[in-house]
Amino acid sequence: MARAVGRATGKAILVGEHFVVHGVPALAVPVPGGTVEAELGEAGTGPVPAGHVRACLEVLHRRWGAPAPDALSVAVRSSLPAGAGLGSSAALSVALGRAWVARTGRARSDDELREASLACERIAHGNPSGIDTEVALTGRALRFVRGAPPRPLAIAPGLGLLVVDTGAPRSTRSMVEEVERRRAEDPAAFERRATRIRELVEAVEGALATGDLPTLGAAFDAAQRVLADLGVSTPELDRAAAALRRAGAAGAKLTGKGGGGAVIAPCRTSELKAVADRLRAGGWQVALAGELPDGRKEHGR
Ligand code: MEV
Repeated sequence: MARAVGRATGKAILVGEHFVVHGVPALAVPVPGGTVEAELGEAGTGPVPAGHVRACLEVLHRRWGAPAPDALSVAVRSSLPAGAGLGSSAALSVALGRAWVARTGRARSDDELREASLACERIAHGNPSGIDTEVALTGRALRFVRGAPPRPLAIAPGLGLLVVDTGAPRSTRSMVEEVERRRAEDPAAFERRATRIRELVEAVEGALATGDLPTLGAAFDAAQRVLADLGVSTPELDRAAAALRRAGAAGAKLTGKGGGGAVIAPCRTSELKAVADRLRAGGWQVALAGELPDGRKEHGR
C-alpha cells in the first residue's frame, strides 16, 4: 500500500495561556513556518512507533479500528521545537489522524479528528483547554473560549512574529498543575490576574485588526508581567524577552505553558529580518519568524 502523509500546524498563543484552561478567552495563531508532518507506512519499512507517537496511534486504533500501531511504521518531520509551548503535541496528533485517513482511505470528520486529538492531548497534558488542537485542526488564527466554537481572528497585513527558543522545556502537565495549585492557594489573586488578561485579550484583538503595532507590543509586555507574576516565567524567558525588545520588537512575552521554551514578539514584517539578525548577533536562537496569518484565510492545513 502507498505511504500516507498528514500535516498540521503548531500554534503560538498571543495572549491568554493558562487562563484559557479556566474559561478566559485566548488568542492564538498558526506559528509561522511551524508544521509537523507524519508519514505512515507498513511495519518494517521505517521507524517503529514509540513514545507519544505510539500512544496517539493507540488512541486512533481504539477509536477508529485497524491498523494497530504494530502494523505501522511512522516517520515524523517537524519544523517546531518540541516542548517549547508551540503546540507540537497537538499538531502531531492531528497530523497522525490525517495520515491515518490517507492510509486507510476511510474519511473522518473534523469532529472525530478533534476528539481523537483531544484524547491524545489528555495523555500528554492532563487538562487541555483544546486551543492547540483547534489551531492544528483549522490552520487559522482564532479567538478561543473553552467549550465554545472558536472565532477566526482578523489580522491586518504587515504584522510579523518572531519566535525565540530558550530551550529547557518543562512538561505542559507540570506547568498546568502548578498554576492550578497557585489558583487554589489564592483564588482572589488568580481572579485579579484573569481580569487583567481579559482586558489584554480585547486590546490585542483590536490591535491585530487595525495593525496597531505599538498597542500590540505594549499588550504583549503587560501579558508577560502577568505571567511572570503567576510564576510561569523564568529568568531566561525574561532575558529573551528583553533581548527581543532591545533588538527592535514592539514587545515580547513567553507563549504557551512557560517554565522554559519559546518567547514571541511582534514587529512589522518589513523589520523581521533586521530584528532577527540583531538577535542572532547577540547569540539568541531565532526558531521561527514570519507574517501573522489573517484568521479569515486558511493556513497550513
Ligand atoms: C498550552 O499550549 C497552553 C496552556 O494554556 C494549556 C492549555 O490551554 O491547554 C498552558
